[in-house]
Amino acid sequence: MATSKVAANGKPIKVIIVSIMALSFIVLCHTYIIGNGRYKALNKTDTFMYPHDGFFLNLREYYRLLIHVQKKVDSVVTSRNSITGTIAWYPSQVYYYARIVSSSKIKNVCELGYGAGNSALLYLTMNPEVTLYSFDLFPVPSEQALISETLPRQGFYQKITLDYIKESDDLSHRFHQIAGNSNLSIPKFANDNPNFKCDMISIDGSHQSPQVYFDILHFRKLAKSEISVLLDDVNDAPVRKDMDRAIAEGLLKEQECLIPEQIHDENFKLYDFLKKVFCAARYLV
Ligand SMILES: *[C@@H]1O[C@H](CO)[C@@H](O)[C@H](O)[C@H]1NC(C)=O
Ligand SMILES: *[C@@H]1O[C@H](CO)[C@@H](O)[C@H](O)[C@H]1NC(C)=O
Repeated sequence: MATSKVAANGKPIKVIIVSIMALSFIVLCHTYIIGNGRYKALNKTDTFMYPHDGFFLNLREYYRLLIHVQKKVDSVVTSRNSITGTIAWYPSQVYYYARIVSSSKIKNVCELGYGAGNSALLYLTMNPEVTLYSFDLFPVPSEQALISETLPRQGFYQKITLDYIKESDDLSHRFHQIAGNSNLSIPKFANDNPNFKCDMISIDGSHQSPQVYFDILHFRKLAKSEISVLLDDVNDAPVRKDMDRAIAEGLLKEQECLIPEQIHDENFKLYDFLKKVFCAARYLV
C-alpha cells in the first residue's frame, strides 16, 4: 500500500511534520504576536462599542451574508444593470454606517428606502439589539409596471433579501416592513405609534424635491433629539437642495458629508459611479 511505503521511507513524513510545525508557528505568531483579534475573548460589556472585536466579527458575518445574497441575485437577474445602487459598492460607506449602528445606544433603526436590502442586512447583523423599521413602496408585481421602469425589477430582487430575513430566526423578529408612499406611511406610523422613537434614521427614498424635504420633516416626529440621520446620494442636486432647506429651517444640523473612496467593491458594483456623497446629520427636535 502506498501509505506503508511512505512510512517505511520516513522522509516524506518528517517533511510533513516539519511543515505542520512551521505552519502552526506562523498561525500562532499571527494570532498572538501580530495580534489577529479573532481569537481573543469578547468583552461582553463593550461588545457593541467601537472599535471592538465584536464589531469586526459582525462585519465579517455581514459580508458573508452579502456574498451569499449577491450570488442569488446574480442568478435571477440577467444583468446587474437591473439592480438599484447599494451601499455595498462603497466599502467606506458600509464601514461608516456599520460604525454608527454598532453603538449600544441604538435599538430602533428607521430607514426609508429598502432598495435591495443591503443596508437592512447591515443594521441587523452589526447590532443584535437592533430592530429595524423599513419604509418602502415594497412594490407588488402586478402594480409595478404602472409606477416606473426600475420598480418592476425592484420587487423581484427585493424578494431575495426579504425572504432571507423572514426565514431567519435571528432576523425575522427584529424586522418590520412598512409598505407604501412615505409621504403618507411615515405620518401614519407616527400617528399610530405616538410613543415610538427611532434611535437612528437613514433617508434614502425619493430623490425628488420637495419629497426629500417632506421625508426629513415627517421623520422628525419619530426622532429622538440629536440622533444620527444618514442621508444617501446627496450628490443629487434635489437631495442636497432639500437637505439645505431642512437645515435652514432648523430641522437638521449637518455633521459631515463624505465622498466614499473611489474604489468600488467589485463583488457588488454594477458600474463605476464616482460622484457619490453621503451625509451624517443630527435632528434638532
Ligand atoms: C471590559 O469592558 C469594560 C467596559 O469598557 C471595562 O471596564 C473592563 O475593564 C473590560 N474588561 C476586560 C477584561 O477587558
Ligand atoms: C406630502 O405631505 C405634505 C404634508 O406634510 C403635503 O404638504 C404635500 O402636499 C404632500 N405631497 C404629496 C405629493 O402628496
